[in-house]
Amino acid sequence: MNAPLSFAFMLRPTVYLETFGCQMNELDSELVVGSLRAMGYSFTPDASAAGVVLYNTCSVREHAEQKVWSRLGELAIRKLEQPGLVVGVLGCMAEREGAALIKRMPVVDIMVGPAELDKLPSLLDNAVRTRASIVADEADAAVARLTSPMLASEERKLRSADQVALQGATSRRTTTLAAAADQLEMLDLSRAVSPDDHSGSAYVRITRGCNKFCTYCVVPHTRGAEVHRPPEHIIDECKRLADAGVLEVTLLGQTVNHYRFEHGSAVTIGGVIQPQKGRVYKKTADHADAYAGERVTTFADLLHQIHERVPAIKRLRFVTSYPRSFGNDVLSVIKASPRICRYLHVPAQSGSDRMLTAMNRGYTVEEYFEFLDRARAFLHEPEISRPLTVAGDIIVGFPGETEEDHQATAALLRRARYKNCFIFKYSSRPGTVADDKLPDDIPDEVKRRRNSELLALQNEISAEISAEYAGTTVDAFVQGVSRRDEKKARRTGAAAPGATKATPSGAITLTIGGRAMGVSGAEDEAPSTCTVDASHIHNPVLTNDPANHHADEHAETVQLSARTDGDLIVFFDAPAPAATALIGRIVRVRIDRTTNLALHGQTV
Ligand code: 5AD
Ligand code: SF4
Repeated sequence: MNAPLSFAFMLRPTVYLETFGCQMNELDSELVVGSLRAMGYSFTPDASAAGVVLYNTCSVREHAEQKVWSRLGELAIRKLEQPGLVVGVLGCMAEREGAALIKRMPVVDIMVGPAELDKLPSLLDNAVRTRASIVADEADAAVARLTSPMLASEERKLRSADQVALQGATSRRTTTLAAAADQLEMLDLSRAVSPDDHSGSAYVRITRGCNKFCTYCVVPHTRGAEVHRPPEHIIDECKRLADAGVLEVTLLGQTVNHYRFEHGSAVTIGGVIQPQKGRVYKKTADHADAYAGERVTTFADLLHQIHERVPAIKRLRFVTSYPRSFGNDVLSVIKASPRICRYLHVPAQSGSDRMLTAMNRGYTVEEYFEFLDRARAFLHEPEISRPLTVAGDIIVGFPGETEEDHQATAALLRRARYKNCFIFKYSSRPGTVADDKLPDDIPDEVKRRRNSELLALQNEISAEISAEYAGTTVDAFVQGVSRRDEKKARRTGAAAPGATKATPSGAITLTIGGRAMGVSGAEDEAPSTCTVDASHIHNPVLTNDPANHHADEHAETVQLSARTDGDLIVFFDAPAPAATALIGRIVRVRIDRTTNLALHGQTV
């Protein structure tokens, strides 16, 4: 019999958490870290030192899921040696795969869908206890095997069969609010905010889920129906973050501009106002929310209120916008609000009407440009140093995409002039309409070619847009040490200045196709399909710049990575001792060199 494990050890093994996918997953991970820390769990960035390994997963493309499968394969081997190891799969992949995942990979102990994350702390406790009893049983079985070799193979099989705590909701929430949603709201409400635990930038969720059902997309199936959080909860969260020193807030939603909260039909349970499913977004002929009114908080109202009531937030932005539902009411608020960034991420997905219909996007190319032209007419004011920058998403190789459709998408890129665009190869996702009804008929080499053609074109456009900033001075929000210098520091074994602030939640972030904000190495803008890597950019101009040697002839400099209000990446060098202090601050940088990926300059 094993010596009994101490209660504290059983309940509080060290946790390694790795995040895949979008910003919503990064926020979910941050909330999970907070809730587990409150239970006494601590975190490690070293997977091999952890007693609990959690993956917060993404299902948007197959590639992201494959990474998790291969990690689980490695853990299955490790678990033979470390049977007490607890493994959890959180997020969209857990939801999409359901119990089938555990059948395929019995190394998994816990599965939690994105709409059930509030249940993770109790599930984890159960799993830790259960694994501890398996370890004790194994010790007994080892003794038994000594006397009865017949048992050996049976016992081995049993050892690898897990105790499972599965909480994946495979059905879509139906009425205004399911009980699961209330609990999920509690997870957001209990967010731990501390002045030492952020890099000056934070995400705040305003809506969950999506109702659009684009035919390629798994998100409505994994994250459920669109629900809007009460405005007071959002504003309070922004205030708490600002009080803790956060300067930049990014509001999150799959279709963020659908936000609307109708106070007349608000439901309160246990003293807590509940998130609201609300009515389908509708706009008036002059492009405003059709349901606007005194007892309604529209997206425009929400932006205005955060801007006015939390002035300590110096940068307010939001992702992702849906192009058809973008009102002039929102554009007017952005124009009138100096602290709202003039940056929009509005995916077009294709430049062909035929493809847009097959994708069920709900707009034509002309309608997309009607919106983009209108947004630029309102917001593009470079003459007062307030240009509008726009980013997009494109899918190449959607079923049936012809060369003509592809050329139409190239034409869209030329006309849209995005500052950057994520370009993805279509990946057929089980459970989606496209996967059911449309054969994935574009060969991979054609997808790859179309992908690189569009990337090359977008790189030219991005380079032209960057070049417009040469010789100007920009306000740049410092996010951390550049990935180039982080790597250099790792090679030499030195800690890069700012490294301690760089991963505020203690969670490991691996962003595929999204962008890593508020995390060091934030220039990792490129999607997994992108061929260019900003980390290789060297900056000889600045390292030889006399300005850098002003204070101390031999002072070491470190390259910092920052963002403009329009979300362009800025690199500049700072003397190493002072660099950490700049992280999370806004500095003035004079731009003296530009590339398609970034602006390079020096502080003024
Ligand atoms: N295949 C490829 N790209 C996809 N996206 C969503 N689903 C798929 C898919 N099945 C892309 C879209 C979306 C972004 C988050 O991911 O461009 O805007
Ligand atoms: Fe997916 Fe379309 Fe919803 Fe975006 S709007 S999350 S692409 S279904």
